[in-house]
Amino acid sequence: MKQHLISLVLFFSFLLSGCMPLKQTEVTSPNGHIRLAFALDGNNRMTYQVSVGDTVFITPSLLGFTAKDGVNLAEGFKVVNTGFTTHDETWTQPWGENKNIRNHYNEMAVHLSDTTNTKLTLRFRIFDDGLGFRYEYEVPGADSILVTDELTAFNIAQDGTSWSIPANYDTYELLYRTQPVSRIDNANTPMTFKTGGLYASIHEAALTDFPEMTLKNTGNCNFKSELAPWPDGIKARFNVGSFKTPWRTIQIAPKAVGLINSGLILNLNEPCALETTDWIRPMKYVGIWWGMHLGVESWVINDRHGATTENAKRYIDFAAANNIEAVMYEGWNEGWENWGGSQTFDYTRPYADFDIEEIARYAREKGVAIIGHHETGGNIMNYEKQLDKSYKWYADLGIHSVKTGYAGGLPDGHNHHGQYNVRHYRNVVETAAKYHTTLDVHEPIKDTGIRRTYPNMMTREGARGMEWNAWSEGNPPEHHVMLPFTRLLAGPMDYTPGIFDIMYERAKNSPYRKQWNMKDSKDCRINSTLAKQIANWVILYSPLQMAADMIENYEGHPAFQFFRDFDADCDWSEALAGEPGEFVVIVRRAGEKYFLGAATNEEAREVTVALDFLEKDKTYRAVIYADGKDADWVTNPTAYEIIEKQVTATDILSVNMAKGGGQAITFMPL
Ligand code: NOJ
Ligand code: CA
Repeated sequence: MKQHLISLVLFFSFLLSGCMPLKQTEVTSPNGHIRLAFALDGNNRMTYQVSVGDTVFITPSLLGFTAKDGVNLAEGFKVVNTGFTTHDETWTQPWGENKNIRNHYNEMAVHLSDTTNTKLTLRFRIFDDGLGFRYEYEVPGADSILVTDELTAFNIAQDGTSWSIPANYDTYELLYRTQPVSRIDNANTPMTFKTGGLYASIHEAALTDFPEMTLKNTGNCNFKSELAPWPDGIKARFNVGSFKTPWRTIQIAPKAVGLINSGLILNLNEPCALETTDWIRPMKYVGIWWGMHLGVESWVINDRHGATTENAKRYIDFAAANNIEAVMYEGWNEGWENWGGSQTFDYTRPYADFDIEEIARYAREKGVAIIGHHETGGNIMNYEKQLDKSYKWYADLGIHSVKTGYAGGLPDGHNHHGQYNVRHYRNVVETAAKYHTTLDVHEPIKDTGIRRTYPNMMTREGARGMEWNAWSEGNPPEHHVMLPFTRLLAGPMDYTPGIFDIMYERAKNSPYRKQWNMKDSKDCRINSTLAKQIANWVILYSPLQMAADMIENYEGHPAFQFFRDFDADCDWSEALAGEPGEFVVIVRRAGEKYFLGAATNEEAREVTVALDFLEKDKTYRAVIYADGKDADWVTNPTAYEIIEKQVTATDILSVNMAKGGGQAITFMPL
């Protein structure tokens, strides 16, 4: 009887569509909740639409590209056949927020062809927490393809609230905006939004040999991909007659923290391409860095030079004494005098007062790793000329981790996020891997999960980090509770948290302090409480996690015990509660220890946290780093208290945070 009913319904839907079967092909998520339908519309254009439950989430949206020289990538395609598969596996990564990740999806591969025999496979993968799709083109007879535009649209069915930074092909170091979806002019991805009771974020996965995708509002809540161009306006170029795009992704979750807890971006990347990964390990680090940003030290060699042999050894001693695995030095090599000018850094020529061989020897003796530094100022050609040599040179010294930087414009009209530089960034990842070297990239291309394929690509900046607090109006309190729901959905961030001298008292009293950045208003400060600085070590995930302050500000400070106990090599994580721009609570486990970080925006807040993530039948010593009673990020940012308690998995904690405050907790089994 039921069978008959279904046939009847199908029959009537054929009737409604003019007696013709709909040219529609559908696939749902494993739990059946998310449904994606591909269709050729009345004008034979390719479209997709997404519904969640019974509600339309993405209304019919265009697919395809345009190209030069008569290459057709969008029109008149016909479905040749459609294949369906299911995939369910749990894979393991050498490091990450979660070492084990379940990859469970239903795939629909729509194979299409046009009259000139151009072949396109549209591969859709639908997970319980969102979806991704990619294009795989083969153009017979073409020996090159010049892509002029991407037509992919995301027509969001209902207006709602969004959190994003503006689209910009050169920088992600911008402030987040909270605004109606319909009011966004353009945005970079991840673009996070809430509509119809659901949270979602549009981004991309596995960005390889392609420009980055940004989003442009084409009316109401309809968005279209805008690719970062080459100087001649071409968006993507290939010297062969075929190409594959990165995945276009939409994460979808009933709660905002569901976006953080999703493994979708990593699942859409290729498995590890490196033969061995035992040389890759997460590390905590300190470095000669903040002093330059505050203007009390300099990158360039002079009487204020930060990276001297003596100072370098002082940092190694501090790391060795405080359970910190690594030290990082900036301003150690020739070329800083031309930063912002000709930018011809030399990556194998240390300044005269930086005896790198002696420093490397000393670090080895103390069991501390060195993180090297390559600032390019944007001079890619100069860097690429020295690339292999400089990674080999570091490796020969025993230095197997490098922070890179691209603070400056690119030559010849290239922009930071176009295909040219995407290729460059990948070239660096592969060269570093050759020398068993891990990377921390500043001014990077945005993360799209390639750490799964290249686990030596560990962390990157790609948002306004700590440096902005040294010489600008700074990052507002909401910034750190915005990042986990936006930038960090893409992957780890080297924010460099943990400044203890919140008001820069030591720097402001220093006779050496000089203004070096035009944006410096002289009354800069950190816009948070001390407890929130500590919480950010947990919240702002980075497998290379820095305690960014000058070590003088940690020496003898009781609250620095948190960083001593902290372990950057976590096994499991869960975002427990939060709302973009308002607050967040995240817990991570590393071995037997758990670390909890909670933070709030300008509002004081109390959040109740059930400790049911702890192992049952174990008692833990909880060390709580909390805002002091009268703490307030504006008037009393350094008031904090340390409270110790014994707790078990059945306990419930009340986490109290001051305005602009936070809380960090270490749980150690007794
Ligand atoms: C910008 C980076 O984000 C910062 O960490 C670094 O100190 C400067 N560039 C200089 O390389
Ligand atoms: Ca930067």
